[in-house]
Amino acid sequence: MKIIMLGAPGAGKGTQAKMLSEKFNIPHISTGDIFRANIKNNTELGKKAKTYMDQGLLVPDELVVDLVVDRVKQEDCTKGYILDGFPRTIPQAEALDKALAALSDKVDFAVDVEVPDENIVKRMSGRRACLKCGATYHLEHIPPKQEGICDTCGSELVLRDDDKPETVLKRLGVYHEQTQPLIDYYKKAGILLEVDGTVDMKVVFDNIVSAVTK
Ligand code: AP5
Ligand code: MG
Repeated sequence: MKIIMLGAPGAGKGTQAKMLSEKFNIPHISTGDIFRANIKNNTELGKKAKTYMDQGLLVPDELVVDLVVDRVKQEDCTKGYILDGFPRTIPQAEALDKALAALSDKVDFAVDVEVPDENIVKRMSGRRACLKCGATYHLEHIPPKQEGICDTCGSELVLRDDDKPETVLKRLGVYHEQTQPLIDYYKKAGILLEVDGTVDMKVVFDNIVSAVTK
């Protein structure tokens, strides 16, 4: 099963992708997590990506496309994968379609997790992230067992640099301009599933699972 997660920043793509990855036992590939790991390890890719991410802008397509295309060709992806945060522009979607077509392959579903802008800023200020293993918490909705510490790997939890309210607003603008057109793109391709992302995260999950296994 090959699934793309679409949705505004903070819609819950990462939260749902992680649960889907566990349920279907397929990799969760988050471009945001890959960049954050590179920033943490101070790699060349991380240094380049950081300058865009800190401003709430997208990293240029040429730094993202090959990375994802190489990743989905790895052996652990033969049964499927969840792409979280990619594609984010029409050229990225076209590049992915082309690379998969060359392997006689295609994406099965694009899941759009819908959350209005008003809900987003509030959600983001409560989010805490583990930069080591990618786990995500929320101070109100999913607090960690021990304050400030990741349940999974014991690392310190942080407020992401790009979760400051002014950067979140910038990211929302970039989303509407550059990523939202993908909803039509996948609707035309006949693989779009739209789910309400404002309800409890377990309900969102059940709705996605029943739609993709129908
Ligand atoms: P990325 O890391 O992908 O960030 P994003 O799209 O802005 O999305 P987020 O991770 O912020 O939100 P999410 O939808 O995963 O929500 P989450 O599950 O955490 O990208 C970061 C940056 O990297 C980009 O700005 C860009 O610069 C760059 N980048 C990445 N990919 C790129 C690409 N392909 N091309 C170019 N640049 C790229 O949930 C949010 C919070 O809400 C959490 O605290 C969670 O616990 C809570 N929550 C989740 N679901 C619910 C619910 N149902 N009810 C209540 N709370 C909930
Ligand atoms: Mg995420």
